[in-house]
Amino acid sequence: MKETFVCFSVVFLGVRLIMASDTIAVNCTKAVIMGKYGSSVILPCWLTPEMNAESLEIRWYRPDQFGSPLLFYQNHKIITNFQDMYRNRSSLTPRNPQSTGLKQGDVSLRLDNLGLKDIGVFHCYVSGDKSYNDNTVKLNVTALGSLPLLSLEYYHDSVNISCSSCGWFPQPSLMWKSTSEKGDALSDPQSLIYSEQENGLFCIYSWVILSSSDSNLISCSVTLSEDEKRIVSVDLGACLSVDNSGVWKILFTLALLCVLALVGIGLFLYRKHKSEYEKVNSGKALPHRFLPHFIT
Ligand SMILES: *[C@@H]1O[C@H](CO)[C@@H](O)[C@H](O)[C@H]1NC(C)=O
Ligand SMILES: *[C@@H]1O[C@H](CO)[C@@H](O)[C@H](O)[C@H]1NC(C)=O
Ligand SMILES: *[C@@H]1O[C@H](CO)[C@@H](O)[C@H](O)[C@H]1NC(C)=O
Ligand SMILES: *[C@@H]1O[C@H](CO)[C@@H](O)[C@H](O)[C@H]1NC(C)=O
Repeated sequence: MKETFVCFSVVFLGVRLIMASDTIAVNCTKAVIMGKYGSSVILPCWLTPEMNAESLEIRWYRPDQFGSPLLFYQNHKIITNFQDMYRNRSSLTPRNPQSTGLKQGDVSLRLDNLGLKDIGVFHCYVSGDKSYNDNTVKLNVTALGSLPLLSLEYYHDSVNISCSSCGWFPQPSLMWKSTSEKGDALSDPQSLIYSEQENGLFCIYSWVILSSSDSNLISCSVTLSEDEKRIVSVDLGACLSVDNSGVWKILFTLALLCVLALVGIGLFLYRKHKSEYEKVNSGKALPHRFLPHFIT
């Protein structure tokens, strides 16, 4: 009686082990993977329970493209003939440095040089002799645009400030803020224009009219999220005082000096010419004596 029980247990355990090693289960990260435009990302997928994937077939593909995978691993090597778009920028890369990769069932995909077309779902399909399984990872891509460019246009008692920046995805928001002795104030953008670049990224443009008597700090911030924003600011007070007094005084003085100098030179030349003329006419000197000074 005791012997039969032991025997049954052994058989049962044996069956369980065979079942476990035959059933492939692909386990992928549930969180949406966020990537930066132009950079690289790893889409993590692994087999549970852990098993060696070196002799399995691994197929990474986009929805409805099972027949033309972006990465296909078969007979211990990668075949990437199917999709030009991914040929040079996809690889099987362990999801963390400690992992031994395929040996321990890590079938993660690395993508380089991310573009907007990579946004969406990726399927990871793994198959062996007797079993297969498929799972998915979601990828989203954002692009941080250029530092905004501010330009100022002065009128009699107001200033028109415009702010522009390109290279964003998705569409960013824009905010104007002015800081004075009274504190911070938000100014509503009097215009907000989005445009799309050829590569699908967005440009944003806005301007505000502010009274030039508010000598304060104006900033324009373009924002995707808390960690993805670019801010640029200008000290309106400093700009105005320089433009209106200092620089203009200096320029006016320089201009006046130039005019006086020109008048002086003119008079000098006139007198000289006049005296030459008189000398030639009276036959005392030859005018060409003065010419070589100008030629050499
Ligand atoms: C997926 O993997 C995680 C971490 O290795 C594990 O905790 C979880 O149980 C696995 N899920 C399935 C369905 O096997
Ligand atoms: C992939 O890289 C090779 C060599 O670096 C290059 O010759 C080929 O044109 C590239 N293919 C694509 C689709 O970018
Ligand atoms: C991608 O991320 C952006 C910014 O976080 C979000 O607005 C957008 O809805 C996301 N798109 C997808 C397809 O998840
Ligand atoms: C402010 O300047 C922008 C150009 O930089 C121009 O498009 C806009 O019409 C100007 N606004 C006013 C009120 O002049």
